[in-house]
Amino acid sequence: MRKKIVAGNWKMNNGVAASIALASDIVRRLGASPSECEVVLAPVFIALESVAEIIKHTALELAAQNCHAEPDGAYTGEISARMLRELGCRYVITGHSERRQYFGETNGSVNQKVKRVLAESLRPIFCVGETLADRELGIAEDIIGEQLGEGLEGLTADDAAQLVVAYEPVWAIGTGRTASPEQAEQMHAFIRRRLAAMYMLPVAEMIPILYGGSVKAVNAKILFSMPNIDGGLIGGASLNAEEFAEIIRSI
Ligand code: PGA
Repeated sequence: MRKKIVAGNWKMNNGVAASIALASDIVRRLGASPSECEVVLAPVFIALESVAEIIKHTALELAAQNCHAEPDGAYTGEISARMLRELGCRYVITGHSERRQYFGETNGSVNQKVKRVLAESLRPIFCVGETLADRELGIAEDIIGEQLGEGLEGLTADDAAQLVVAYEPVWAIGTGRTASPEQAEQMHAFIRRRLAAMYMLPVAEMIPILYGGSVKAVNAKILFSMPNIDGGLIGGASLNAEEFAEIIRSI
């Protein structure tokens, strides 16, 4: 059975003190070993070390929101996957639509990052998602297929077994507009079929596919009950410990 995962992407919210407070509150609500599902927190870079300390004796895991594709070098302002591993990260979010939209990331550059994350024995939370225009043009699956094909290019089946994929329709992120459970399930099933074509079915069956985009306590249960939805990547609602804990409990 694939493991269910609920990951909180705090984005550029919460400095060190606020991250410590939020992580502590989440741990208090969940207890040391939350449930059958894996719980992952992705604070800003500068809070990673402090949050790592808070979740040290719990089953919670740490994720970074981005990394550079090189292990080190003259890349002012960047942070490498190797450095993130040193801080206790287990996951790195790669190719989030906000990175693609605002920071010019492409399928090709995301591919470099995914490979580096894997090379450092970390797990990529590899994000894909179509825009509203793509969906209205009826090319959503083409876009996702392209993101999978180019973003995961060159990965072996062993690499792929380490992946977590997050389907996040761009039109549902931070908009309060969620894909319907059926819409999401349809795309998750498509992603699984595509992964099976790339890496064989047993590998595709192992890869958790998370849904992201305005997940809240009120809609989490129905989304997570769909056969190919293995949890969520939660933005806004993960900034509230009570709401986030409620989402986790609905798995
Ligand atoms: P949201 O963000 O839950 O605020 O829509 C999800 C994400 O971008 O990961």
